[in-house]
Amino acid sequence: MRIPKLPLAVAGLSMAAVLTVGWQVHAEATRATFPALDKLVHYTTVKRGDVTEHIMTTPAAIDAVKNRQPIPAGTHFVLVDYREGKVFRYFVMEKGQGWGADYDERRRTGDWQFQWFWPDKTINTAENTARCQSCHQSQSGAEYLFTGSRIPRFNGTPIE
Ligand code: HEC
Repeated sequence: MRIPKLPLAVAGLSMAAVLTVGWQVHAEATRATFPALDKLVHYTTVKRGDVTEHIMTTPAAIDAVKNRQPIPAGTHFVLVDYREGKVFRYFVMEKGQGWGADYDERRRTGDWQFQWFWPDKTINTAENTARCQSCHQSQSGAEYLFTGSRIPRFNGTPIE
């Protein structure tokens, strides 16, 4: 049996157009920048099925957490998401003085902003970083971090 291809292709195209418009509404740059990865320390690894996540931050942030001090402005946290041994994407959080004021209170995550970068370090403009914030808001008592509580045990070997 021959399946008529054209109407399906057209339907597919218009669906793609609808989705693209939807994404563009949410696409956003934030203040979070891509950091110099060689200045960061890999303090923990999280494995989820086929995904291996290396989580890293600055030596100054590690010291701050160990000394129960606030994490300094200018700090990056990066989650490097590896799939099949290759970088699939980078999730970045960066803290900046007064950056929380960019968002209303319901969305705010302290002074942290978020971004999703592809391996070529361009941002994923299809992502709405409000989603990152809404999940990380649950960690408001822990600097909006899920793995910050591992830092006090870190002594040079990434904690698994
Ligand atoms: C559904 C909840 C959820 C969403 C949405 C989410 N995260 Fe996370 N994030 C986590 C969890 C849980 C971890 C801890 C690592 C793990 O368990 O995989 C984490 C870890 C991180 C870390 C490492 C620091 C830390 O908190 O431990 C960064 C950086 C990060 N996420 C950035 C992002 C960015 C950027 C986005 C949006 C593009 C995002 N996250 C969306 C739940 C979420």
